[in-house]
Amino acid sequence: MTFQSQLRIPGPTPLPERVIRSMNRQMIDHRGPEFAGILAEITAGAKRVFKTKNDVLLLTSSGTGGLESAVANLVSPGDQVVAALCGNFGERFAALAAAYGADVVRLEFEWGQPVDPDDLRVILDRHPNARVVLLTHNETSTGLTNPLRELARVARNAERVVVVDGVSSISSIDIETDAWGIDVAVSGSQKGWMAPPGLALVSVSERAWAQQAKARSPRFYFDWKEARTWAEKGMTPFTPAIPVAFALREGLRMLEEEGLGNVYGRHARLARATQAGLQALGFQLYAQDGYRSHTVTSALPPTGLDVGALRKLLDTNYGVVIAGGQGKMTGKMIRVGHLGAVAEGDVVQVIWAIEQALEELDVAPADGRGVAAVTASVQGVPAAAR
Ligand SMILES: Cc1ncc(COP(=O)(O)O)c(C=O)c1O
Repeated sequence: MTFQSQLRIPGPTPLPERVIRSMNRQMIDHRGPEFAGILAEITAGAKRVFKTKNDVLLLTSSGTGGLESAVANLVSPGDQVVAALCGNFGERFAALAAAYGADVVRLEFEWGQPVDPDDLRVILDRHPNARVVLLTHNETSTGLTNPLRELARVARNAERVVVVDGVSSISSIDIETDAWGIDVAVSGSQKGWMAPPGLALVSVSERAWAQQAKARSPRFYFDWKEARTWAEKGMTPFTPAIPVAFALREGLRMLEEEGLGNVYGRHARLARATQAGLQALGFQLYAQDGYRSHTVTSALPPTGLDVGALRKLLDTNYGVVIAGGQGKMTGKMIRVGHLGAVAEGDVVQVIWAIEQALEELDVAPADGRGVAAVTASVQGVPAAAR
């Protein structure tokens, strides 16, 4: 018997009770003073999380809408654009630019490997006309965090407009938008922000505004200029996802109460604990050591384990929902999300459930080694003493 589903996918993430309650109310006028106050609070809070003094625009869309807004506002048909990619979301960002008629120069790495800043430097040298560089901070499909500070530095030194997909990282993994020279960063409300899907957050630098003024792609719903003009009046150009705004404001308050440093520390701890638990159960971590994500862990199954059967059993018998692989890794890996309102006990629960399921599937006995590894990791016991 399971009473409540444990959502351990890399977004949407589970909602804290406070956030759920914040949405349990009547609609308000999105052109009235209360919404203006909410928009101001979200914008100010988001700027602290992004660590930016640039504009932060709130768009009603999922994260992809935020990314599309970047392409629509920065790229003209025929423009060369460099897309650095090492997974499914990087691929999607490149495809998005191609859909707008960009001539996409792909800097591609094996899945599970990070983008190499030296290679980015070389490709930018070779393509001096590519004004815009598309980077992925946290590649959710492979559970990998790219060395964004170094990548952004390379792109900035080459005087390019640096655009970052931070959908599954910002608010869970540190980013210093201004200090690292990032012109545009995009996130989505359903990830570390602890809110439902529906709002995208997009930071836009002065350099990005200058590029925006020159770019000639068609744009309407995602026109940044409209968004900024209306934001100055405390509004959005079109009807916003008001319930998600209630939730996002509450999620932001919770992030600030915990303190961003503590939030990042917690995500790092949960990642280590998840990695330890999965390894003890015979899974092989997929992303390269040193670049493993703090928000999602990807792992290849032990021999003989059918990933589809495992996920189904976890869901039906244990109420635990984890993700599988994407794109070419569909059916070949598991991904466990640990971002947003997640704590150590949640990691214990997911690893415990996987351990039980492995026994049920006749892959390995449930002898408690997965949970022991999680506990040891959380308590900081050195491996040799376990
Ligand atoms: C890195 C990354 N980029 C983009 C997206 C797409 O976001 P959405 O599904 O909100 O459009 C996701 C969603 O998981 C993501 O993890």
